[in-house]
Amino acid sequence: MIQAAVPWWANAIFYQVYPRSFADTNGDGVGDLDGVVAHLDHLSRLGIDAIWLNPVMVSPMADHGYDVADPRDVDPLFGGLAALERLIADAHARGIRITMDLVPNHTSSKHVWFQAALAADPGSPARERYIFRDGLGVDGAAPPNNWVSVFGGPAWTRVTEADGSPGQWYLHLFDAEQPDLNWENPEVFDDLEKTLRFWLDRGVDGFRIDVAHGMAKPPGLPDMTNPDLEMLTLDDDDPRFNHDGVHEIHRGIRSVLDDYPHAVTIGEIWVFENEDFAKYLRPDELHMGFNFRLVRAEFEATSIREAIENALAAASLADASPTWTLSNHDVEREVSRYGDGATGLARARAMAMVMLALPGAMFLYNGEELGLPNVELPDGALQDPVWERSGHTERGRDGCRVPIPWAGDAPPFGFSTNPDTWLPMPPDWSALTVERQLADPDSTLAFFRTILQLRRTSFHFTEYDVEWLQLRDDALAFVSGGVLCVVNTGTTALPLPDGELLAVSAPLVGGELAPDAAAWIATD
Ligand code: GLC
Repeated sequence: MIQAAVPWWANAIFYQVYPRSFADTNGDGVGDLDGVVAHLDHLSRLGIDAIWLNPVMVSPMADHGYDVADPRDVDPLFGGLAALERLIADAHARGIRITMDLVPNHTSSKHVWFQAALAADPGSPARERYIFRDGLGVDGAAPPNNWVSVFGGPAWTRVTEADGSPGQWYLHLFDAEQPDLNWENPEVFDDLEKTLRFWLDRGVDGFRIDVAHGMAKPPGLPDMTNPDLEMLTLDDDDPRFNHDGVHEIHRGIRSVLDDYPHAVTIGEIWVFENEDFAKYLRPDELHMGFNFRLVRAEFEATSIREAIENALAAASLADASPTWTLSNHDVEREVSRYGDGATGLARARAMAMVMLALPGAMFLYNGEELGLPNVELPDGALQDPVWERSGHTERGRDGCRVPIPWAGDAPPFGFSTNPDTWLPMPPDWSALTVERQLADPDSTLAFFRTILQLRRTSFHFTEYDVEWLQLRDDALAFVSGGVLCVVNTGTTALPLPDGELLAVSAPLVGGELAPDAAAWIATD
């Protein structure tokens, strides 16, 4: 059963804003926080409960903000601290909460701590804040172990010592500009506590915690057995992640959060064993954890059902609220993932109805409500460090980060006054602008507004569970919150059970549910 005193986040709709790509108010071609303020009407119309902002702290932007040089200030590119304060005030006035990204696993290489570590000697306290080791082999010329960076290439970079000699190596699970912190050093937690309080005292309503399964490293840093893992593939034996010591760190974070009972933590937890995943959600650790099963599910009835059952089971092991997401700034947009074109869009709309019918917290990614596809960008436009680090074999994540088209008939579609946007916008997005879709009752935006509204008014969630019905092998059907959700993943129309039709993702065909479509039917 859902507890009587349900916290605000338990069934909330979070809307992820990728600030670089949302809206630019100062004409530099990169989005900023005043751009979010300027478009709060759009978010109010959707009826979201909270915004999750990707990192806006001071950063050289080697990984677009996930390389933080000063965790307690906002980068001037995004408008500085004053712009965030304006956003918090204006969003709160509309009843929209603001959650921020927090990056505790690593800092930027430009952080004062890392600069001090580079200037200091091996073994010095300054180096102890990061993970420096001597190399192996003759003259320490080989990295300390075989770990690979999630972005490609080795996870170690060798430094030059103050006397000019080839020196130690430092660990970076991501880009070389993102050195991993040494979480065994108590200074690291003390500093994070300051950061948490800094933002919470300014009215922030919580944090999405980046790489929440990282941070702690196993003693001796044993080799990986499978160093050929692709990015975002999972191997629960991977020594780089999910070391048991991470739970102590989460308990520390929670002890700070408990001083701010209004605030939530949501961990990015790429851990696939449910028992292991649930450990992060114990009562003294994170409030919620991202579950990525639905992102990985094919548009196929069994695959979707397994993902849902699994995510519900994982959350229930910890008595936590389940979380659902179909896309974010790291994965290919769902329209493209499900087959692109009209089919991809139809399936993405159907999957939005699946997700929004489920009990728990929802995470929408900006542009999802417009049905944006991934963009094939030319080589010269690519900015994700993955492109360089993979030796130009992986194109990276830029294709899902292209700026939002707001209005007008040509790029930059009201995103900026500057035609030179940080990623180029496809001319054919003229059909997908917010302006165009607001004027069209059949648009994907109109559809999202309808289903988001219905989620608030027609669903009555009393438990974190759903009841499955069997209609046909190539169909999915479940009752949740008093509503029957039916999805046709097959190739022929599907007769619908009786009942009041609340919503459909595509027009019925002869009174039946079209392939690649979903329907909501009232059950009481
Ligand atoms: C997380 C973020 C991703 C970032 C990485 C390193 O996976 O979602 O965008 O590149 O962490 O911080």
